[in-house]
Amino acid sequence: MPRRVVLDCDTGTDDAIAIMLAAARPELDLVAVTAVWGNHAVEHTADNSRRVLDLIGRGDIPVYAGRGAPVDPPKGAPASKGSPEADVLPLPPPTQQVESRDAVEWLVETARASTQRFTLVPTGSLSNVASAVAADPSFVEAVDELVVMGGVIDRDGLLPDIETNVGNDPEAALRVLDAGFDRLTMVPLDATYRATVTVEQCATLRTVSRAGAVAADFIEQRIERYRRLPAMAGRAAAPVHDALTIAHLVDSTVVTLQRASVRVHTGDSPTRGRTDITVGTGDVRVAVDADASRFFDLLHESLAQL
Ligand code: RIB
Ligand code: CA
Repeated sequence: MPRRVVLDCDTGTDDAIAIMLAAARPELDLVAVTAVWGNHAVEHTADNSRRVLDLIGRGDIPVYAGRGAPVDPPKGAPASKGSPEADVLPLPPPTQQVESRDAVEWLVETARASTQRFTLVPTGSLSNVASAVAADPSFVEAVDELVVMGGVIDRDGLLPDIETNVGNDPEAALRVLDAGFDRLTMVPLDATYRATVTVEQCATLRTVSRAGAVAADFIEQRIERYRRLPAMAGRAAAPVHDALTIAHLVDSTVVTLQRASVRVHTGDSPTRGRTDITVGTGDVRVAVDADASRFFDLLHESLAQL
C-alpha cells in the first residue's frame, strides 16, 4: 500500500519539485497539498501549488491554503524577507480552484477522521503544523512521521546562520518540536547542500518530460543565485532543499540520519531563528549527510514518469 503523504509547503521552485516528486512516485499517495506562507504570501504559494499539480496532470489532488503569518511572534520581530524568486511560478494559471476550507482546519479534521495514519512533510514555515497542534494536541497521533525541511548545523561555517523555514516562524518550530510527534525527522541545510544538482544534470532532466524541462528551468534559476554563495565554492550547482525530504521517504539511503537534540532560538533574541543541533543523542532524527548521485537518479527516474 502506498504511504499516505500530505505536503505542507510554501511553493517556490524547490517545493514545486518536491510536489512533482511526491506525485510521481508509486510508493507514495499524495493526498493533499496544504499551503503556508514563506517564500511568498500564502495566496501565491497555494496558487503555485495548483499550477504545479496541473502541469503534471494531477488537478485531482486538492490544495488548501493555511496560515499567512507566524503564529506568535514577539513585538518588533523582523518580517521575513521572502524569496528573491517571482511570486508566481511561470506556469499556466490553474484550472482548478484552491479549496475553500482552511488548511489547518482540514489537517485537524482529517487527523480526527483518519483510521490510517499519514506522513506530514512541512517544507515551508511551520505555522500550519503548529496551529494544527494548538487546535488539537492529539493531532500528532495521526502522523506516523513528520519530515521537516528545516534547520542548520553548519559545522564548516559556510552555510547561512539561520535556515528560512525555522527562521520565518521560530515559535512555531519550537511548538512542533515539543508536540510529541512519534517520529520526527529533520532535513537541515547541511544535508540539502550535499545533494546539489548541477547544470549538466539539468540538461539531462530537460530531455525526460515536460515536467523534467520545467524542473530543469527552476533548478537553473536556482543555480544562478546559489553559485555565488561561499558554500558552492564557484560550482554551477544548487540545492533543491524540499525535494530531498521526499527522496528520503522513497529511499531511506538517500540521507544519513543520526539522533540529535534540537533547540530553536525564539523571542526577540538577536539569534532568533537559529537552531542548535547536538548530534549523538536526542529524539529527533537529523539528516547529517546526503548521497547526491542517488538523489539525482531518483529525481531523474521520477520526472521521467510524469
Ligand atoms: O531554507 C530552505 C527552505 O526555505 C526551502 O524550503 C525553501 O523553499 C524555503 O522555504
Ligand atoms: Ca519551501
